[in-house]
Amino acid sequence: MALYSEKVMDHFRNPRNVGVIEDADGVGEVGNAKCGDIMKMYLKIDNDTVTDVKFETFGCASAVASSSMATELIKGKPVSEVMRLTNKAVAEALDGLPDYKMHCSVLAEEAIAKALEDYFSKHPEKRIQ
Ligand code: FES
Repeated sequence: MALYSEKVMDHFRNPRNVGVIEDADGVGEVGNAKCGDIMKMYLKIDNDTVTDVKFETFGCASAVASSSMATELIKGKPVSEVMRLTNKAVAEALDGLPDYKMHCSVLAEEAIAKALEDYFSKHPEKRIQ
């Protein structure tokens, strides 16, 4: 069996939503201390909905594919839903990741959570419990 699913390879080779949002409403950067990979997410939020999202990832194929898939999963979605995105959902949407690569998908969950936290810190009235 191939190490990576076709979806992982597709999102690694043609990542969606790569880039920077200069006037982002929330930015989250996380890293994995062990492998040194870094992921940064930029969110544009309007009317409690993620209207745009971009990412920059300096990392392995699984991290790039996870960020790309995560952006597709949250774009156009309400903040309340985006908050609940798990790394497992990202990995499942990629048709799975090898066990020892699951931590790469965790970066996507954490980067989005951190970007939302940044947004909530600027807009405390929008915070969802
Ligand atoms: Fe570090 Fe994949 S090996 S995020």
